[in-house]
Amino acid sequence: MSEATPRVAIVTGAARGIGAATAQRLAADGYAVAVLDLDEANTKETVQAIEGAGGTALGVGADVSDAEQVQAAVDRVAAELGPPVVLINNAGVTRDNMLFKMTEVDWDVVMNVHLRGAFLMARACQKYMVDAKFGRIVNLSSVSALGNRGQANYSTAKAGLQGFTKTLAIELGKFGVTVNAIAPGFIQTEMTKATAERMGIAFEDFIKGAASQIPVARVGQPEDIAHLVSFFVSEGAGFVSGQVVYAAGGPRA
Ligand SMILES: NC(=O)c1ccc[n+]([C@@H]2O[C@H](COP(=O)([O-])OP(=O)(O)OC[C@H]3O[C@@H](n4cnc5c(N)ncnc54)[C@H](O)[C@@H]3O)[C@@H](O)[C@H]2O)c1
Repeated sequence: MSEATPRVAIVTGAARGIGAATAQRLAADGYAVAVLDLDEANTKETVQAIEGAGGTALGVGADVSDAEQVQAAVDRVAAELGPPVVLINNAGVTRDNMLFKMTEVDWDVVMNVHLRGAFLMARACQKYMVDAKFGRIVNLSSVSALGNRGQANYSTAKAGLQGFTKTLAIELGKFGVTVNAIAPGFIQTEMTKATAERMGIAFEDFIKGAASQIPVARVGQPEDIAHLVSFFVSEGAGFVSGQVVYAAGGPRA
């Protein structure tokens, strides 16, 4: 980017996994990046990686499902880095269980982090985007949006994020703001590692099994998703909005 002052991006859930890779990629692309996660101390590794590569980063602790914490975090980013005009709603959790065993807490936690979290973050950031007449929001959906055994809560939230994406694209388009969603397939992170553990399968075997079903014959890496985020937030992607791209190494989930 050619501007003297870099544009500011917020990546939620950026302490590790897809969020960490995305924060590092956007910093390499020239954005000043707010690395937001539940606990500020856990953002240190991502912040240091960005700074070590010559980029600008700010670690911010906040629970995206808490309205007050979200507002305070966005205010802090605006004050310390500048107006956030790029938002990546990446923070996520799983609480998998078959329907008959799923508790109300399992349901509510997943809805709150993914749906309430994306809503609160987008609502707090939109005024900066509207003021700038430029904005980019990317929401992390999942192939699970199409249905996945044991994930009634998660698949509902990830499908909900697709509706949220399309509606924001309609509401915010005239302000130069695009809103898109990425629906990853199997990505090698702590989240899929935890799933393997829950199923009692060694992570390497879980990865091997998943890769055998994927047309490109490998599982995804966080950088695969960061690359797509980089495209969606780029200046040149201004005519692409309200879309959901399935990044799963093949045409089907
Ligand atoms: N890994 C996959 O295969 C996969 C596939 C499809 C979609 N996704 C989605 O991509 C996103 C990132 O997944 P990942 O695999 O990197 O997961 P991860 O578990 O490795 O990282 C998620 C991060 O989100 C943070 N987080 C959780 N709740 C939060 C909250 N309330 N407020 C702020 N931060 C919070 C966690 O602390 C963690 O750092 C998630 O939305 C996930 O649902 C992942």
